[in-house]
Order: sequence, then structure tokens, then C-alpha cells
Amino acid sequence: MRLKGKSALITGSARGIGRAFAEAYAREGATVAIADIDLKAAQATAKAIGPQAYAVQLDVTDQSSIEAAVKAVEAKTGGLDVLVNNAAIFDLAPIVEITKASYEKLFAVNVAGTLFMLQAAARSMIAAGRGGRIINMASQAGRRGEPLVAVYCATKAAVISLTQSAGLDLIKHRINVNGIAPGVVDSDMWDQVDALFAKYENRPKGEKKRLVGEGVPYGRMGKPEDLAGMAVFLASDEAEYIVAQTYNVDGGQWMS
Ligand SMILES: NC(=O)c1ccc[n+]([C@@H]2O[C@H](COP(=O)([O-])OP(=O)(O)OC[C@H]3O[C@@H](n4cnc5c(N)ncnc54)[C@H](O)[C@@H]3O)[C@@H](O)[C@H]2O)c1
Repeated sequence: MRLKGKSALITGSARGIGRAFAEAYAREGATVAIADIDLKAAQATAKAIGPQAYAVQLDVTDQSSIEAAVKAVEAKTGGLDVLVNNAAIFDLAPIVEITKASYEKLFAVNVAGTLFMLQAAARSMIAAGRGGRIINMASQAGRRGEPLVAVYCATKAAVISLTQSAGLDLIKHRINVNGIAPGVVDSDMWDQVDALFAKYENRPKGEKKRLVGEGVPYGRMGKPEDLAGMAVFLASDEAEYIVAQTYNVDGGQWMS
């Protein structure tokens, strides 16, 4: 029960990695807001997790939605202790085919969404005066570029940078900001990634996914649950002295 009594909000937690985090946080004693643009899916996930979880409608690209979600958490639990900035979207195209619309959408969700969620959470935490934890989902894609993945990679590099700046700025309020950089994780997002690689690299569906899994030093793709230990640790008292870091949790892929 390492998060006993904590109030957490996890963006994009109706499914995938965010959902695995919500399940782990609830097991560790936290109350968790399943905050997602897909309210129906968020409600189903909250129901499946049980009484420690509740659904909140959230679009991280909409400032009024961000503020309403933080207010909903304050009203439900008396304050926000942990924010996980997990919601993100993916797209892929060669440099010569990238569209302004795709660029703007990815930066709106992955970067502006992370920054303004983080800002709203920090304001709430500072007003309550009891510190807090903010965990941003980066990616190995933020550590280096990839030929077809320029925009997504740039958004995740920005998340690592925001984690550093916000971490250094907010620690005076005893708000620890850190990040997690997964490698390849089997989720709905990766099904979309696989379909896009199939199109641009002229491969049968499923092949890219199989190949990247085989390329991970651990021997397989990650599962959402593989990331949950780090998400619990960074939200726990044990991580009190950790500031502005982004940790790879990737089966060794960054080293390979
Ligand atoms: N799957 C991977 O291989 C992988 C690797 C590295 C990093 N990541 C990162 O981990 C995080 C979770 O990834 P996932 O694979 O679980 O993704 P996913 O696509 O399965 O889930 C993303 C969730 O975010 C929600 N969402 C999308 N736009 C939103 C918005 N505007 N406001 C609120 N919610 C919104 C979706 O409804 C969905 O529930 C992301 O930040 C992703 O970039 C994933």
C-alpha cells in the first residue's frame, strides 16, 4: 500500500499503459481518476477497477476541460497528489509527406497537453501546500530521431525537456516532476504504429510488431504492466529525492 490515501489523476487511462498504471495505483491504495477523451471507455475502466477509481471526461488539448478535470478531482478527493501525463497520439510519415495538420495535432496533445495539464496540477498542488508528484510519459522516441517518425519523436523529446524544466522549477514547492521512457509496448497505439509501418515500408500487417519485439534485448515487446512498477515508485515516498529525471523502462532497448 505504497500510495495509501493518495489522490491520482492519470490522463489517457481508459486503456493501454494508463489503464495498467490506474490498476497498480488502486492496488497500492490510491484513489484514481480515469481521465480520458473517451468517457464511455473511461467509465468502463473505472467500473472494472472498482470503488477506488472514477471516470472523468478530459481533453488535454482544451484548457477548460483540463481545469474542470482538476476541479472534479479536488471535489471528489479533497486534492490532487499525483498527476500522470500519459495521454498521447501517434502518427508517422516520411519528412516530405508530413502535413501541418498532423504536426499541430501531435504537438497539441503530446506537448501542449502535457504542459498545461502539468500547470493546472501544479497550481492545485501549490494551493494545497502539500507537495505532489507529476510523472510524464516520454518515450525512447524522445531520445533519438527515426526516419519516419520525426514529429512524434520531436514531441517526446519535448516531453523530456519539459520534465527537466518543470522538475527544476517546481521542486521548491515539493512537487517532484519525473518521466518514464518506454521502448515498445504492446497496446492499441502499437497496432496503429504497425499499420502505418505496413503502409510506408510495404510490409504485411503484424510484421513490424514481431520484428521490433524480437529486437528487444529482453526478448519481447513490453506489456503495459511492465511499466507500472516505475510509475508506482515515482509516485511513492521512496522517490522523494528524485527530481527532473526521465527513466528508460524498455527491456534494454535503448542500449541495443
Ligand atoms: N505503446 C508504446 O509502444 C509506447 C512507447 C513509448 C511511449 N508510449 C507512451 O505511453 C503513453 C500511453 O501509450 P499507450 O500505448 O497506452 O497509448 P493508447 O493509444 O493505447 O492510449 C492512449 C489513451 O489516451 C487517450 N487520449 C488520446 N487523446 C486524448 C486527449 N486529447 N485527451 C485525453 N485523452 C486522450 C486515448 O483515448 C487512449 O485511452 C503515451 O504517452 C505514449 O506516447 C507508448
